[in-house]
Amino acid sequence: MNNQSFPHNFLWGAALSNVQAEGAIQEDGKGLSVYDTLIAHQEIKNSTQSNSDVASDHYHHYKEDIDLMAEMGFKAYRFSVIWSRIHPHGDDEEPNEKGLAYYEAMIDYLLSKNIQPVVSLVHFDMPDYLFKTYNGFYSREVVDLYAKHVAVVANRFKHKVKYWITYNEINTFPHLTRLITGSIQPENISTQAYHAVLTHHTQLAHAKALLAIKAINPQAQVSGMINYGVIYPYSSQAKDVYAAYVMNEFSNLLSFDVMVFGNYPKYYQSYLKNLGISVDIHNEDMEIIKLASSKLDFLSLSYYQTAITKGNDLEDGLEEIDDILNIKNMRHKNPHLDTNEWGWHIDPKGLRLTLNTLYRRYNKPIFIVENGIGIDEELNQDLTIEDDARISYYQGHIKNIKDAISQDGVEVMGYLAWAPIDFLSSHKEMRKRYGFVYINRKDDGTGDLKRYRKKSFYWYKKVIATNGEDLSN
Ligand code: BG6
Repeated sequence: MNNQSFPHNFLWGAALSNVQAEGAIQEDGKGLSVYDTLIAHQEIKNSTQSNSDVASDHYHHYKEDIDLMAEMGFKAYRFSVIWSRIHPHGDDEEPNEKGLAYYEAMIDYLLSKNIQPVVSLVHFDMPDYLFKTYNGFYSREVVDLYAKHVAVVANRFKHKVKYWITYNEINTFPHLTRLITGSIQPENISTQAYHAVLTHHTQLAHAKALLAIKAINPQAQVSGMINYGVIYPYSSQAKDVYAAYVMNEFSNLLSFDVMVFGNYPKYYQSYLKNLGISVDIHNEDMEIIKLASSKLDFLSLSYYQTAITKGNDLEDGLEEIDDILNIKNMRHKNPHLDTNEWGWHIDPKGLRLTLNTLYRRYNKPIFIVENGIGIDEELNQDLTIEDDARISYYQGHIKNIKDAISQDGVEVMGYLAWAPIDFLSSHKEMRKRYGFVYINRKDDGTGDLKRYRKKSFYWYKKVIATNGEDLSN
């Protein structure tokens, strides 16, 4: 039997978030982003953190880095246009031309190498000024400032960029809220009410961004993006299975439910109603969200790990749901899976399950735009890195994508590994390395920023050259 595996036009490549790689945080008119200023915030607890002023110095090395991507045979590269490089304060009347010119040069360089740019908007990069002055996406004004920013970016790159991602991991704000929404919880409201406001404002931001891009270029391909982490039941007891089901709906699927169906699902409406929470939804908001849903082209996701959760014996329905949604219940080790050095479960099969869940529920093409493993690595004496653990991680995940396509009929457009080069993690750790290319820069700020190809570099090059047929190490 002839099983179709990766389509001939499959978009192989990798992805990066520019606040985590560029450095040059105050160069050429750039304003500070929430990522740049997060270092003193309580959300960042790690003592080995370094800061973003240099990072991988991708700002000055982008051509060298893109050359390395071209050498691996990339068909696509996802990067983020840093909001505060274009609108340094966020509410500026005019954009920063130097910022636009920088990304335009990067896009031109990618196109000259036959690499399709995939542009992300909002990836930990809200102007810090908007956070301090408006409390970020907690404020409706910021939704409109964002839509204006997106229109400027989309207009500038309309003839050059086909693929757009409106908002990185829109569903993950309950974890790193300031980073993801540029806001903090006001004192006078409950966490649930705060999250309800953020849910609506970020959905509206996605919808307005999508419509802005489509109005400028109807041919553009636009997606929403989530992080998907399958949640398994702690045991086969019905209460655990139910808890996992509810958690999957709320934390993994709610965002796409709204983006694809253009409405808030009944399970979510009912939850808010029972809590007595009503969000200020303007008349036109749901029309905007509905219209955007009719124009959504594909779904994109990051996939790193899975989790398990426990149910409870609470009699009160509302308490029961609220307890299920408390992430403390997910902090259990899965005895069937290995973890990386940061305790993240490694679960390639979970990716096949994810792809099936999304495709069967939404029937839209899927683009995997982040998947990879953080490893604490050091250069060998002979300047090599034998990252077999990374190769093994990718082998498992790519094999499961192949199975999802060939066995289950899922439509997958492409696969972008995380990441082409080393950079700072979301917690600003340089030692948590994800790249196919090692960057000589340490958490203490030492290192000459030279680039070194890891073993996985050559392995991924072969994978792309064989269109995913040869995964051997
Ligand atoms: C995703 C983010 O959540 O996970 C990336 O989109 C991030 O920006 C990646 O780097 C890996 O997480 P971490 O914490 O290891 O950097």
